[in-house]
Amino acid sequence: MSDVLAGYGLVKKYGPTTALAGAEVAVRAGELLAIMGPSGSGKSTLLHVLAGVIRPDDGRVMLGEERIDRLGENRLSALRRDRFGFVFQSGQLLPELPAEENVALPLMLSGMRRRDAVARARRWFGPLGLDGLERRRPGQLSGGQAQRVAIARALVVEPDVVFADEPTGALDQATGEEVIRLLTTVSRSLGSALVMVTHDAGVAAHCDRIVQVRDGHIVDEWHPAAAAARNGATR
Ligand SMILES: Nc1ncnc2c1ncn2[C@@H]1O[C@H](COP(=O)(O)OP(=O)(O)OP(=O)(O)O)[C@@H](O)[C@H]1O
Ligand SMILES: [Mg+2]
Repeated sequence: MSDVLAGYGLVKKYGPTTALAGAEVAVRAGELLAIMGPSGSGKSTLLHVLAGVIRPDDGRVMLGEERIDRLGENRLSALRRDRFGFVFQSGQLLPELPAEENVALPLMLSGMRRRDAVARARRWFGPLGLDGLERRRPGQLSGGQAQRVAIARALVVEPDVVFADEPTGALDQATGEEVIRLLTTVSRSLGSALVMVTHDAGVAAHCDRIVQVRDGHIVDEWHPAAAAARNGATR
């Protein structure tokens, strides 16, 4: 399998603070990758640099064969819109739009007609357990429901990569688990890679691989399924 996304020698400084200090990471097509590490270690910066939201001071970001960190802003935003999906902690939905139009938005921004976009968006409500909530506004949804709408919006374009920064950070344990189960299941079924920052080891365990960030670079990585099998064998 080939890498869908890779960062090499990524450096990002904010004044005297080094957020990224030569971080290297490669994500395989369809791979689910969790990024863990202490607060302030550079996880969100890494995610945003890989997603073309923040430009690195040094190093490069490759999306397949294409170098993207030097692209012009128009090309970069088109690429983010068409090939990436984003799920953040909360508050990312437009409060004045019904859920189905929030989900349809990335399609409309890519030029799809409103009717077609909403029809396509609606197909996501069943699989995500949101049947009947299509016309609700975000303020009329629970936290877990709103986050599932956000997942639908991230995945509706069938992106190459979904980026999620602490997607369960604002949810209770059980709701968070359910949201992650859906996010990982749907990403797998579409073949989208997932790059997810999380503080929660239980959440990270749903991924294929976990990388540990410290002081702006990756210091360790492991495969949770393999680790679980090993632990089981030694218990
Ligand atoms: N816009 C910014 N301006 C100045 N410093 C920043 C900025 N963004 C991040 N930093 C600094 O860069 C370092 C890495 O920040 P980052 O947000 O990537 O950490 P993080 O690992 O995501 O932490 P957390 O788990 O708390 O979200 C921190 O020291 C942070 O204070
Ligand atoms: Mg962060």
